[in-house]
Amino acid sequence: MDIQIDLKNLKGFIEKDEWKALEPAIEKAHQDLINKTGLGSDFTGWVDLPSKISDSLIDDLENLGKDIRSHSDCVISIGIGGSYLGVRATMEFLVADQKIPIHYAGNNLSSGYLFHLLEKVKDKRVTVVVISKSGTTTECALAFRVIKKFMEDKYSVEELKKRIVCVTDVHKGALRKIADQQGYKAYPIYDDVGGRYSVLCPAGLVSLAIAGADIRQLVEGARVAEKKFMTPSLDENIAHQYAAARFLLHQKGKKIEVLSTFYQRLSYVAEWWKQLFGESEGKDGKGTFPASLNLTADLHSMGQMMQEGERNIFETFLMVEDSGHKMIIPDDDQNLDNFNCVAGKDLDFVNKQAYLATSEAHYEGGVPSMTITLPSCSAHALGQLYYFFQKAVATTGYLMGVNPFNQPGVEAYKKKMFALLGRK
Ligand code: PA5
Repeated sequence: MDIQIDLKNLKGFIEKDEWKALEPAIEKAHQDLINKTGLGSDFTGWVDLPSKISDSLIDDLENLGKDIRSHSDCVISIGIGGSYLGVRATMEFLVADQKIPIHYAGNNLSSGYLFHLLEKVKDKRVTVVVISKSGTTTECALAFRVIKKFMEDKYSVEELKKRIVCVTDVHKGALRKIADQQGYKAYPIYDDVGGRYSVLCPAGLVSLAIAGADIRQLVEGARVAEKKFMTPSLDENIAHQYAAARFLLHQKGKKIEVLSTFYQRLSYVAEWWKQLFGESEGKDGKGTFPASLNLTADLHSMGQMMQEGERNIFETFLMVEDSGHKMIIPDDDQNLDNFNCVAGKDLDFVNKQAYLATSEAHYEGGVPSMTITLPSCSAHALGQLYYFFQKAVATTGYLMGVNPFNQPGVEAYKKKMFALLGRK
């Protein structure tokens, strides 16, 4: 089954003729993307990446994963932004696939975080995957310095070659040099694939294969989506429908998009989504601000704002048809909480009613919404979703007239920080 979109809660916010009028612009955005004639076309390698990934790479990564798991108790995946969020989002979602504990580093500059992480793993057999396209990102480089020293104190030079894996640029950067000099195993991040679009290349796949995720099905799902979202048609292409709705809502003053999930395991997919959308659209004074809510928890904190705050928000619900588990609510003789009405039902049934109630209440409160539904919590479904969002944001970026593949703005704070650190 494929992912689905429900647009009924756009009624009253987007008119049919506005939708229709956008068709030529969508068609142009699509053609620019696939013909590499649009802004930032040097970084559109992700468009046909799923169909280009070779089975031999997947075989190789699966074997690497088996080998590393045979001699390791845990893996530390070092990276930030696009070199972190895809791995984390996938592993949190595919939690049932996890065959070895995976820890994350290089995604902050906190001494305490790294101290506790190293304390936790000091008596374990550790493998490190360090992921950085540039090889020079501060958080990642410093975490790797510390962890490399920890590993050097623990293992012989020969052993380190089995226990440190680098994922970086094919030719350049500090990490590439370290890998070549020390003889560490290295996998490439392709030149034409930017960080936030890289979950389906070795930047994401190496750590995922080691942790035990079904990368074959993840890529297969993305391949299905690549084929499916290759049509320019607005009627048939749900990635284009999502892009069109976001663009039109933004034009009508809905400047904030809230991605609301009702499943814990999707909360890091929402983090990945925020980077993808925020970094792709937020430039030249443009872009929809991406935010996210973990429901139902956040209904008890942000629910008020969603229901009655400034009406500059639209909401995208991310749902799962079959979450794969059942938790039956027991009957209670006393029924003091008065919930025997749902005794015998699955907790997910209540979760779905919470979604129906929330989407209706927010819509009546002036928040238009869409719902994207995954068929299941499988790697295949997640692969489809990743590709769906990438195709959609590239399309809205082009509709907005921005380059969805660069991130010039992130340099500003780095320049100031390097000046403070005295780094040349
Ligand atoms: O999307 C991006 O390009 C960024 O988020 C990068 O992924 C992030 O800054 C990490 O960069 P690098 O992989 O070069 O360490």
